[in-house]
Formats: sequence, structure tokens, C-alpha cells
Amino acid sequence: MPQDPSEYVSKIFKDGIFKDKVVFCTGGNGSICSGQVRALVHLGANACIVGRNVEKTEGMAKDIATAREGAKVIGIGACDVRSMESVQKAVDTCVKELGRIDFCIAGAAGNFLAPMSQLSSNAFKTVIDIDLIGSYNCAKACLPELVKAAKEHPTGESTVPSGRIIFISATLHYGGTVLQTHAVAAKAGVDALSSQVCIEYGPLGITSNVISPGPIGGTEGMDRLAKKAKEGTNPWKVIPSGRMGKVKDIADATVYLFSDAANYVNGEVLVVDGGAWRTTSTGRDFPYPDFLLEGGSVEGVGGMKKQKSGSKL
Ligand code: HXC
Repeated sequence: MPQDPSEYVSKIFKDGIFKDKVVFCTGGNGSICSGQVRALVHLGANACIVGRNVEKTEGMAKDIATAREGAKVIGIGACDVRSMESVQKAVDTCVKELGRIDFCIAGAAGNFLAPMSQLSSNAFKTVIDIDLIGSYNCAKACLPELVKAAKEHPTGESTVPSGRIIFISATLHYGGTVLQTHAVAAKAGVDALSSQVCIEYGPLGITSNVISPGPIGGTEGMDRLAKKAKEGTNPWKVIPSGRMGKVKDIADATVYLFSDAANYVNGEVLVVDGGAWRTTSTGRDFPYPDFLLEGGSVEGVGGMKKQKSGSKL
């Protein structure tokens, strides 16, 4: 269904900045990655999204194509990122049909909640295979095309450079997260993988960065991993920005990293979470004390320093 651009990209970006660029995206039928691709297509790019579910992936490609008149978006289903052969085939189809790959988003992921005691070795391996090996396969298959594109449109010499990759990670491993041993290990690996791409391919004109989303509303990830909030409560108050993230927040970060504005950003992790990981990791679940908004001070606990009357400094 056509969406209003204000739902998935900020107005500050110039129309057509990604004209003639091609983006390849794994996990492109999911809520976050489809939003990222939709924003790039709206701003001029053509795209190839891949996913396991044929109907969902092809349907999402058609839907994303409504973001701009004349956009070419192909959806390749039955592609499992755990198989290098499967990813390579999709990359070859993308190049055959769209001519090139300028940008890559390694976004496919799988997750569920399970304590280690109920996480079989195979279940752990399954998430490592999808998130980490899948990201590797995606980078490995796209990098030769990205290097070619970067030579044609090098950073610093082209208005809009090519040869950029974004890995979608998470913040789960910063402080550790219960029931997420598999995803924590996988996403730590994804961050390390991106750094390696940066140092080995930076000299060939590639930038490799990570976007780590916090809790993003209306996504499969949140449906699967977050408890429903009790009526009348705001569980997102614990996030410094006071709200859950939107798909648009991640799409905006993507446009920035693929644009000329991020030429010198390489090997970085861009956390887009409203500051959430700084307050919501295990054992640090301490909501913002509202009395501070009213100018109040901490009272009624032992060990407080006595304040002189009128002293604020
Ligand atoms: C415990 C589970 C499990 C569950 C699967 N397994 N689901 N264990 N709890 N809920 C175990 C199985 O028992 C099996 O181990 C092993 O994992 C492989 O399971 P399969 O079903 O054979 O694997 P597969 O069909 O490949 O399924 C992949 C999957 C599944 C990830 C495990 O959940 C899936 O397809 N999910 C859909 C995609 C998805 O998760 N999207 C959300 C992404 S959001 P045994 O021992 O029985 O062989 C996201 C955000 C992360 O990733 C960041 C959050 C902030």
C-alpha cells in the first residue's frame, strides 16, 4: 500500500539524491529493512530485496515500488542468507536486472526468547547462522560489485558516492540481555564483521558501518520479543527520548550513511535508540524521576549531601 513519505523519511533530504543507484538488501521484506529501502527508492534508487518467503518478498517489492513513479524494485523470495549459493544467485540476478549494486544492507535476522537452559546448541547455531553467517554471505557476495561501483563513483569525487554497506545490528550485547544469548553473540559478531570490512575494503573505496536500532514500534522483532504494555503505563519512559523508535528513524540514519554527508564515516556503529541502551540494559531499569522535571531534589534516602539553602551550583 502506498505510504505517505512523511511516514518513512524526513523532508530534509533532497529528491533524486540516489538517482541511478541500486541497493541490495537482505531481510528486505521486514518492517525495518523495507522502510530503509522505501526511503532510498523514494529518493531515486532502484532496489533488490531478498527474503525467505516468496509471496511476502515479491509483494513487498511491489509495495516499495509505489514510493516513486518509475522505480524498479525486484523481490527475490526463497533466498536463505545461510546459503552462500542462494545469496550469490540473488546478487547475480540483481546485477543482471538492475545493472549494478551501489549500496548493500545486510539486514536479515532471526530471533526468539529463550534461556540458555532451553536453548539447544542447534537453536544457538541457527541464530548465529542467520544473523552472523548471513551477514557475511551478504557482504561477501556484494563486495565485488560494491568495489566496482566505488571505482566509478568514488567518495569525495562524486556528488553521490557508491560502494557502501550497512549491517543491521542491535544493542543487546552492550550490557548483556537475558534470554538473548544467541542474538547477543551473533550481533557482537556482526559489529566485528563490519569493522573488518572497513579495514580490509576501506582502501578500495568502501565504507562499512553498522546501524543498531533500539526498540522500534510496529516491527516483527518487537512483536516477538517485547511484552505488551499494561494499560495506562508508558514502558518507554525509561528511554531518555521518552518514546519507542519509528521505522523512519532507522531510514533517516540509512539515508545519511549512504549520502555524501557521511563520506568520512567508516567502521562506525550508529546507535539509533533514543539513548535506550544507556538506561535499559539488564539491572539498570531505573525510570526517570519525574520530580526532577519540577525542580525537586532527591530526598528521604540515606547518605545524601546536605544542600545549603538557595545553593544550586
Ligand atoms: C526456543 C527455538 C525457538 C523458540 C526455534 N527454536 N524457535 N528454540 N524457542 N521460540 C529452535 C528449534 O527448536 C531448533 O532447535 C532451532 O531453533 C532451529 O529451528 P527451526 O525452526 O528449524 O529453524 P528455522 O526454520 O530456520 O527458524 C529460524 C528461527 C525462527 C529464527 C529460529 O524463529 C524464524 O523463522 N523466525 C522468523 C524470522 C524472525 O525471527 N524475525 C524476527 C527478527 S527480529 P532444535 O534443538 O529443536 O533443533 C530480530 C531483532 C533482533 O532479529 C534485535 C532485537 C532488539
